[in-house]
Amino acid sequence: MTSVSEQQNLRPPPHVLIFPLPVQGHLNPMLKVAHLLCLAEFHVTFIISEFNHRRLLQHTTASAAFSRYPGFQFWTLPDGLPDDHPRSGHGAMELMSSVANVTVPLFKKMMIQENLLASAARRSVTCFVADGLLSFAPDFCEENGIPLICFRPAPASYFWAIYRFPQLLQAQEIPFEGKSMDGLIKSIPGMEGFLRRRDLPGFYRVDDINDPTLKGVVAAVMLIHRAQAVILNTCEDLEGQILEEMQKHVPRVFSIGPIHEQVKYRLMEKKTESSIITASLWAEDRSCIDWLDAQPPKSVVYVSFGSITLLTRKQVLEFLHGLLESSHRFLWVMRPDSVTGSNGEDPIPTELMERIKGKGLLVEWAPQEKVLNHPAVGGFMTHSGWNSTLESIAAGVPMVCWPYLGDQQINSRFVSEVWKIGLDIKDTCDRKIIEEAIRDVMEVRKDEFMERSGNLAKLVKRTISKGGSSYNNWDDLIQYIKSLVI
Ligand code: UDX
Repeated sequence: MTSVSEQQNLRPPPHVLIFPLPVQGHLNPMLKVAHLLCLAEFHVTFIISEFNHRRLLQHTTASAAFSRYPGFQFWTLPDGLPDDHPRSGHGAMELMSSVANVTVPLFKKMMIQENLLASAARRSVTCFVADGLLSFAPDFCEENGIPLICFRPAPASYFWAIYRFPQLLQAQEIPFEGKSMDGLIKSIPGMEGFLRRRDLPGFYRVDDINDPTLKGVVAAVMLIHRAQAVILNTCEDLEGQILEEMQKHVPRVFSIGPIHEQVKYRLMEKKTESSIITASLWAEDRSCIDWLDAQPPKSVVYVSFGSITLLTRKQVLEFLHGLLESSHRFLWVMRPDSVTGSNGEDPIPTELMERIKGKGLLVEWAPQEKVLNHPAVGGFMTHSGWNSTLESIAAGVPMVCWPYLGDQQINSRFVSEVWKIGLDIKDTCDRKIIEEAIRDVMEVRKDEFMERSGNLAKLVKRTISKGGSSYNNWDDLIQYIKSLVI
C-alpha cells in the first residue's frame, strides 16, 4: 500500500498558467520564469500571441528548447491587430487596448471550454502568474477559484512610486503645474534625498491627474491587493530599502532577480544539457559578435533603445554626431521600425554613413546579453528599459541613460545617483551633451565607473547564487506555489 506522501508524489505537479503582455520586455523575463518553473518540474502553460509565436519560431530555438520539458506548452491567441500594424511607440498602446478587447475575451472563453486546462496528464491550473498590467486577472481568478500571482517586469522603485500616487497628490507634488522639474519629491519613503520631479515615472508627466493612462497604471498597481503575491525582477542588493518600504504594504513579495542570471545559475547547478532560451522577436544579427571580436578591450559603446522606443530622424542625427565626435567605436541597434519623421529619406545621410565605416556598426537587432558580456564593450547608451538595465548591471557595463517612457525615468536616476554606475542625460537630446557623456563614461571617469559597475555585478551574481537572497526567494516561491495545490 502506498503512503499519503507517496500518493501525493504520484499526482501531477502544480500547473502554472503564465500570461505576459505580448511585448519583448515582458515576454523575455516571463519566458525565463517559465523556464525556471520547468526546471522545478512544474507543468506550465504559456499564453503567447500568434504574431509573437510565429516570430519566436522564425528567429529562435525557443520552441525546440522547451520541447525537452514535457510539462510545458504554449497556447496561442490572436493579439487582435493586423500583422502589418505597428507595435512600437504609440502602436504599443494600441496593442494594450487590442489585448483587452480581443485576446482577453478569447482567453476566458478558451479557459472555460478547456476546463481550466485540465487533462489526464495535468491538473487544471493551480496558479495564475499574470502580467501585472492585465487588469482582468483578479476577477477572473476569483470567479474560477485560482490563486493569482502578479508579475511586474519593472523595478520595485517604479511600483512604489506609482503606489504612492495618493500621497503625492495629497502633498501636491503632482500634478507638476509648472513647478521645477528639479524639485525633490518628499512623499515617497526611501527616495527622499535623490528623486526629482523629472525622475518620477513618465506617466506622471500629465496636466490632468485624471489622465486615462495614468489612472490605468495606478489602478494596475493597486490590483496587487487582490493578488496572493507579487514577483519582481529585482533583488535586495539593488533595491533593499525600497523593497522594505513596499513590504510594509504588500505582504508577499518575491524578489527573484536578475531573472536572466537566476536561470543561468540554476541550469549550471542542475548540470542539465538544456541551454538558455532566448525570446528574440527579431532576427539577431550575429555578425556584430565577429565585429566586436576585432575591437580592442572596453573600446566599444553599445547603443540600443530597446523594443518599443521610437526616435525622430533629428534625434538619430544628434546621437550619431555625439558618437562620432566622441571618437569612440560604437555598435548601434537600429530596429527597422524605430525611426520616425524620415519622410522617405534614409535616416542616416550618405556622408555620415561614410564617417561611420570603420568606427561603427549598425545592426537591426543584436544578441544583447552576448554583446554586453563581450570584452570589447566598455559602455552602454541605453533607454533604461529595466531588462536592459539589469543585463548591463550583471555584465558590469557602465551606462549613459536616455530614458523614454514609464519606469525608465526612475531607472536612470538609480543608475546615476544610487548605484553611481553611469550618467543620466534625460530630457536632453543634444550632440554636445551626448559626446561629453560618452567621453566621461569611456575615458574621463572610466576607472570609477568600471570599478563600481564591477562591484555591483559581483553583488547581483552573489544574490542569485546558492544562499543569496534572490536564490532563496525563488526556492520560497516554489514552495509557496506547491502550497497552493489543494
Ligand atoms: C519594456 C519597458 O520599456 C521597460 O522599461 C519595462 O521595464 C519592460 O518592458 P523595452 O522598452 O523593450 O521593454 O526595454 P527592455 O526592458 O530593456 O527590454 C528589451 C529586451 O530586448 C532586453 O531583454 C534586451 O536584451 C532585448 N534586446 C534588445 C535584444 O535582445 N536585442 C536587441 O538588439 C535589443
